[in-house]
Amino acid sequence: MRAVVQNRYGGADVLHIERVDPPVVSEHEVMVRVRAAGVDAGVWHTTAGKPLLLRLFFGLRGPRQRVAGRDVAGEVTEVGTGVTRFAVGDEVFGTTLRGSFAEFTRVPEERLVLKPTNLSFEQAAVSPVSGCTALHAVRDAGRVRAGEKVLVLGAGGGVGSFAVQIAVALGAEVTGVCSTAKVDFVASLGASRVIDRTKEDFTVGTDAYDVVIDTAGRNPLSRLRRVMRRRGTLVIVGGEGGGALLGGFGRSLAAPLISLFVPQRIIGLTSSEDQDALEALRELLADGRVTPPVDRVFPLEQAGEAIEYLHAGQPLGKVVVAV
Ligand SMILES: NC(=O)c1ccc[n+]([C@@H]2O[C@H](COP(=O)([O-])OP(=O)(O)OC[C@H]3O[C@@H](n4cnc5c(N)ncnc54)[C@H](OP(=O)(O)O)[C@@H]3O)[C@@H](O)[C@H]2O)c1
Repeated sequence: MRAVVQNRYGGADVLHIERVDPPVVSEHEVMVRVRAAGVDAGVWHTTAGKPLLLRLFFGLRGPRQRVAGRDVAGEVTEVGTGVTRFAVGDEVFGTTLRGSFAEFTRVPEERLVLKPTNLSFEQAAVSPVSGCTALHAVRDAGRVRAGEKVLVLGAGGGVGSFAVQIAVALGAEVTGVCSTAKVDFVASLGASRVIDRTKEDFTVGTDAYDVVIDTAGRNPLSRLRRVMRRRGTLVIVGGEGGGALLGGFGRSLAAPLISLFVPQRIIGLTSSEDQDALEALRELLADGRVTPPVDRVFPLEQAGEAIEYLHAGQPLGKVVVAV
């Protein structure tokens, strides 16, 4: 089968199409004929091998998992003998640790759910990582309730665009922060107020938020706490840049310690695409409360360009690779 493979860490040039043996499913795995594969910030990290801390888990000199890509949507072509939830022909979406930028991938059944019929494969493929992260951030860590005031930083990005929609679906009043080109897009997601970060400082003003979801910009915690209610919650999802070893993860590591000394809850999120989150996300997508925002579709041959386009911060929402 054709797959996008990398043998070393680097930019888009380390990714190339190669013919590799198709995977073999084990007892509790499902074979998926990939129709579309979502691109998220994590794929850039595993391609680049940055920050360096990640290499402890993914491989010191080069990635142990040579086929890139994590988010997947496609059709079930084979099931392991122990699989109970899926049959050949089902249309599914979820995440794989075996690479999704390929014609086929194998996925443990608990990492998949049925694709809602109202979604295209491209829309489904951009949803698992960003959608589950946003769900965990807003619903679980943020405990957002109807009527609360929520601030989303990086509201026009992958996680941010899902977070805005999920918070709105929970009845919150959402303010999104983004750059100029994304202002109309963030408003279209349901944010009642959008702050153009190039023209306005979100910390200036009288607003006090119950929950802040931080996906971008690596603002110091002291700056973020300034816009929060005394008993508010700050959920740190991520933020690019930072030092070579920890990148943007430094603030997440400091969060539990700082939380001990301040009245606000400060949480460094570690998300996962577990079955509960995937099912809850599926419901939100199926009844239209959340719409996956697909900015651009790239062919498999241009998976590297798709990753670079995302990393440059341009997409309105998400980008996807069609297979
Ligand atoms: N904790 C977890 O489990 C978890 C899970 C998934 C992702 N993450 C992390 O979360 C972060 C966001 O991921 P993503 O997939 O949403 O990335 P993304 O799609 O690239 O979105 C990031 C957004 O950040 C904004 N941005 C860039 N520089 C900024 C700056 N200096 N100040 C403010 N905003 C800035 C960009 O939009 P503008 O043009 O509007 O500024 C962009 O839309 C990444 O660091 C990722 O690694 C963490």
